[in-house]
Amino acid sequence: MADHPRSMRAIVLDAPGPPEALRVAEIPIPTARPGEVLIKVEAFGLNRSELHTRLGLADGVTFPRVLGIEATGIVAACPGGEYAIGQQVAALMGGMGRTFDGGYAEFTCAPVRQVVPFISSLEWATLGAVPEMLQTAHGSLTIGLDAQPGQSILIRGGTSSVGMATAVLAKRLGMTVLSTTRNPGRVEILQTLGVDHVLVDDGEVALQVRSVVPDGVDAALELVGTPTLPDTLRATRVHGVVCFTGMLSNQWTVRDFYPIDYLPRGVRLTAYGGDATDLPAEVLQDFLDAVAAGEAHVPIHRVYRLEDVAEAHADMEAGRAAGKLVVLH
Ligand SMILES: NC(=O)c1ccc[n+]([C@@H]2O[C@H](COP(=O)([O-])OP(=O)(O)OC[C@H]3O[C@@H](n4cnc5c(N)ncnc54)[C@H](OP(=O)(O)O)[C@@H]3O)[C@@H](O)[C@H]2O)c1
Repeated sequence: MADHPRSMRAIVLDAPGPPEALRVAEIPIPTARPGEVLIKVEAFGLNRSELHTRLGLADGVTFPRVLGIEATGIVAACPGGEYAIGQQVAALMGGMGRTFDGGYAEFTCAPVRQVVPFISSLEWATLGAVPEMLQTAHGSLTIGLDAQPGQSILIRGGTSSVGMATAVLAKRLGMTVLSTTRNPGRVEILQTLGVDHVLVDDGEVALQVRSVVPDGVDAALELVGTPTLPDTLRATRVHGVVCFTGMLSNQWTVRDFYPIDYLPRGVRLTAYGGDATDLPAEVLQDFLDAVAAGEAHVPIHRVYRLEDVAEAHADMEAGRAAGKLVVLH
């Protein structure tokens, strides 16, 4: 660390508030202890979880806080010797940006178990977009849905960055992908990603789904939340699986849950909450290699500078983005 400055620019949130509450500050660079990795952040993706934190909707967050549940960069210090200085890494989840300072900064410090190494010559803006979105898509498909080649999948909230990443992975897996947007102007974006059937979502898509797959889909990924969950369940076949991963509507609880009324007969409901360990290094590496080879696409909406984080949050809150919002140093 001797050749690094002592202080860094970071985005600090003192308390929940509007986008402008995210202020640029000069703060000390964190010190890595054994078992931790100090990362020089090159780029980071923005996430809904950080929007929830800014809006005061997230449990267990303490303030003031440098937000950011993920970051991508190079190892600047690693006292335990687990990684070499200069190794490319991503860090994500596990309280990052929530209970300890996260990725909206020039440096971030994370426990070794939350650090995933990779080697890639892709641009940092692309690399910064990938980790959390890939982990959520991969974890939902594997742990949540046990998705298999040849199966059909409905992605509810398909133009979200997680939805688009899931479509890319599902197509690579050999699935038939049905994906929703509320905005007819975004149909082509999803088609370009390889989605087989784009459905315009007016709150009910089960009938549209069953006109394509009469018995219902094998798997469904719910990203909009509890307002659409009953309809997503109705779009799924007997013994098919619905995985509740997201809540773009900001509604995630079911009032007066009576299973026999709520769940169609034989349809299975599960959920996925991410963890860094759900993104094995080989999965990240394989995906980055596929992107470099032109076999997979990283859906990026726009790349911002650190001082534009408030603008990026406003874009996310207003639903103006189709794809990942990325900040590049
Ligand atoms: N469980 C986990 O581990 C985990 C991890 C990461 C993210 N997530 C969750 O996954 C979801 C997707 O996150 P993301 O970062 O990919 O989202 P995002 O990119 O910000 O998604 C934004 C898009 O969602 C669509 N959307 C559909 N219904 C919506 C509604 N009712 N309200 C607002 N937007 C709606 C909009 O597209 P259209 O206008 O085209 O419909 C909007 O452009 C979030 O709920 C997030 O919290 C979960």
